[in-house]
Amino acid sequence: MRMIFGMIGALALFACAEGAPDQSTYPTLSGDAPIVIAHRGASGILPEHTLEAYTLALQQGADFIEPDLVMTKDGVLIARHDRFLSTTTNVSDRPEFADRKRVQETFSGERDDWWAEDFTLEEIKTLRARQPYAGRSKAYDDQFEIPTFAEIVNLAIASGIGLYPETKSPSYHAEIGLDMKAPLLDALSGVQVPVFIQSFEAQILRELHPLTEFSLVQLISGDPRAVMAGHEPPLEQVGEYADGVGPYKQLLWAEPGLPSDFVERAHAFGLAVHPWTFRDDNLPEHYASSEAEIEAHLAMGVDGLFTDFPETAAKLRDAGNKR
Ligand code: G3P
Ligand code: CA
Repeated sequence: MRMIFGMIGALALFACAEGAPDQSTYPTLSGDAPIVIAHRGASGILPEHTLEAYTLALQQGADFIEPDLVMTKDGVLIARHDRFLSTTTNVSDRPEFADRKRVQETFSGERDDWWAEDFTLEEIKTLRARQPYAGRSKAYDDQFEIPTFAEIVNLAIASGIGLYPETKSPSYHAEIGLDMKAPLLDALSGVQVPVFIQSFEAQILRELHPLTEFSLVQLISGDPRAVMAGHEPPLEQVGEYADGVGPYKQLLWAEPGLPSDFVERAHAFGLAVHPWTFRDDNLPEHYASSEAEIEAHLAMGVDGLFTDFPETAAKLRDAGNKR
């Protein structure tokens, strides 16, 4: 092995001496360019988790589209960030569904809402998506359907863009008799585009590990409640079943401007690092621009990042960020 590196070094010196292009690599785990993951599609521009938002993301140069997945009453995977529907659809304006509203206990406390698992796919398909964030355009509200995961897979196959699905609340879905693994793997069967499967819950990733060759990513919020519940194990355990980690971006910093050792430790366990979420319209105050924030993370060697504005990150990726 050492001899091979010696030969590569000699060749590199020769190439430089001859004026050949710079052969240096990115400070990522693989040395490849970091990937741009369109968080919920190009969700900064269009209503999140719609085929239109995913399509815009691929037009803007994203490498992957990210569908968060929940399940309908009849066991179909659909793209929504939350099981509740009031913030991202027009369900509250639909009188025929008024009696479906009910209170459920969630991770964040009690919530009175409409829930995806109380609706059939046919009913979900009558709803239209809305922009949930104040300050973003509502010009496209009430126009686009809620896509199924199968429809998103078809979009990826047709376009060649990678897929980065997240199973939302898999243990809750299992409790009510809705297994997420089988429909997820069925939809991905034979898919040739790059795929990462992610979750905040370690259990489903451990169960998927022997069932699939697709890369698995453990999301890490750092929330002590998730750690206590066993959902987010330490990095050394994550390496037993996953290929990467998706940390909340602040976990990468000891303090503003001072990197923590997170990326170094994850890379030491062979884990790629894909932090979230980068937003042009929600910039941490110590950065001069969203470009500066992304550059700071690329420089520390992240292997990719989730962003609501993939066009910004794709431009920086294309400009290069090498050693
Ligand atoms: O999946 C990565 C990132 O999206 C996690 O946060 O809450 O937007 O799904 P969330
Ligand atoms: Ca997500």
